[in-house]
Amino acid sequence: MQIAKTRDVLRNSLAALRRRGPGLIALVPTMGALHEGHLTLVRRAREEADHIVASIFVNPKQFGANEDLDAYPRQLAEDAAMLEAEGCALLWAPTVEEMYPAGFVTNISVAGVSEGLCGAARPGHFDGVATVVCKLFNQVLPDMAFFGEKDFQQLAVIRTMARDLDLTRPHADAIIGVPTVREADGLAMSSRNRYLSPEQRAHAAALPRAMRAAIAAIEAGAPVAGSLAALETEIVGAGFSSVDYAVLADSTSLAPLASLRDTPARLLVAARIGGTRLIDNMAVGPA
Ligand code: PAJ
Repeated sequence: MQIAKTRDVLRNSLAALRRRGPGLIALVPTMGALHEGHLTLVRRAREEADHIVASIFVNPKQFGANEDLDAYPRQLAEDAAMLEAEGCALLWAPTVEEMYPAGFVTNISVAGVSEGLCGAARPGHFDGVATVVCKLFNQVLPDMAFFGEKDFQQLAVIRTMARDLDLTRPHADAIIGVPTVREADGLAMSSRNRYLSPEQRAHAAALPRAMRAAIAAIEAGAPVAGSLAALETEIVGAGFSSVDYAVLADSTSLAPLASLRDTPARLLVAARIGGTRLIDNMAVGPA
């Protein structure tokens, strides 16, 4: 596996990949600190494409002033070994200066779908995500790109950006969402789970458990507002410190729903346990 740290090396490595013969190229963007969730994206990509390019870049533009940019885990050598073992052809791991050279001023802002939920609690976060993902797409020009449903709003923002900007590599329809990979107790895998103490980690499993209970209630016809309130009470009782949001939303627009309709819906939750903010989401009703 080649590791490119500059755009020049990336360009040459991609040209070499393309010279190896015709074949589809898939991009798997990450911020590193890889776990089974990330590796599942790579494995999914290998089913669909011939060459896998992964990226690791802890993107400062998507971290707020009081967030964990400096503390975010960085372990490039370990991550590279995992990606190589999964059959990645190329790792794009630029420095901040390489991604945002002096004078960089452009911002991509996707209105609507980026505004509620995590967008409300993390101003500027999705602008940072959209801007860096657009750059990654243009740098690599992949035929397809893979993202986790774990970050459901992020996936919606990226799809909307690709559609609105007529991105062709990858085309909006070639942005593929992969179901969330979970620990044995149901907690969604996340690089941030390592911030949890053993006690907090044990409490964290209450989140997916309470979400499943709320979904069962809503699907059985219980009122949405009451089911969401019960979910909040349950996870705070189980050791979470606060709930940022617990919302039933339309799966495409992410607009809040007061009741279940016959269009696909999603339960999305963000909650804090100590200083760590966890997010999760699950499908509700007929898939
Ligand atoms: P990161 O948090 O490293 O996640 C990289 C990709 O892995 C994202 O598409 C995310 O949704 C997916 N992922 C994380 N945990 C997962 C899980 N448990 N199951 C399935 N997929 C999972 O998301 C980002 O980085 C960044 O915002 C990025 C898109 C790279 C832009 O900077």
